[in-house]
Amino acid sequence: MMNKDVAKIMIGEEDLDGIVSRLAEEISRDYSGDDKRLVLLCILKGSIVFTGDLMKKLTVPVEIDCMRVSSYGNGTESGGNVNILLDLVRPDLDKCDVLIVEDIIDSGRTLAYLVGYLKHKGVKSVKTCTLLDKPSRRVVEFEPDYKGVEIPDEFVIGYGLDYAEMYRALPYVGILKPEVYENK
Ligand code: PRP
Repeated sequence: MMNKDVAKIMIGEEDLDGIVSRLAEEISRDYSGDDKRLVLLCILKGSIVFTGDLMKKLTVPVEIDCMRVSSYGNGTESGGNVNILLDLVRPDLDKCDVLIVEDIIDSGRTLAYLVGYLKHKGVKSVKTCTLLDKPSRRVVEFEPDYKGVEIPDEFVIGYGLDYAEMYRALPYVGILKPEVYENK
């Protein structure tokens, strides 16, 4: 049954499964060489569910790591800095083919920053994968290497995405009823 705060399901469970399978195939194909050492970098917390499902479908060896970041100044031109709350710390970064896994790209600031940051840290390679993309919200130019689906600018929750830390466990991506967040 649908959660009472969800106005509409945007991407149902079966569709999500198909999207994640397609991305896993593309990634498995691209990272299949003996010279590859794929590290999925889950950006907490929104990407937890997507990363978990994606890793199960990969047919190549994979390691997992996590970072947690928060962007501040969202919605304003002056902001745009990214705060690292949990860093990627390992001694072998120069041997790692890092694939950053995101649930959603909005302004583009988080991924634009992270790609530069990881390159600066000296990883062997860095690419990006997002389940959802809201191109209409872009503030900095950014195009991911792997993309699930483009979506319109709706308030989406579920499958890892939250409103005030709730709804992350919903198995689908849904549109939150405006009355839940209006006048808060
Ligand atoms: C969301 C999302 C991305 C970022 C995208 O995270 O998971 O990390 O915002 O936005 P951007 O393209 O404008 O940078 P959020 O800060 O909501 O944290 P969470 O994943 O812990 O919910």
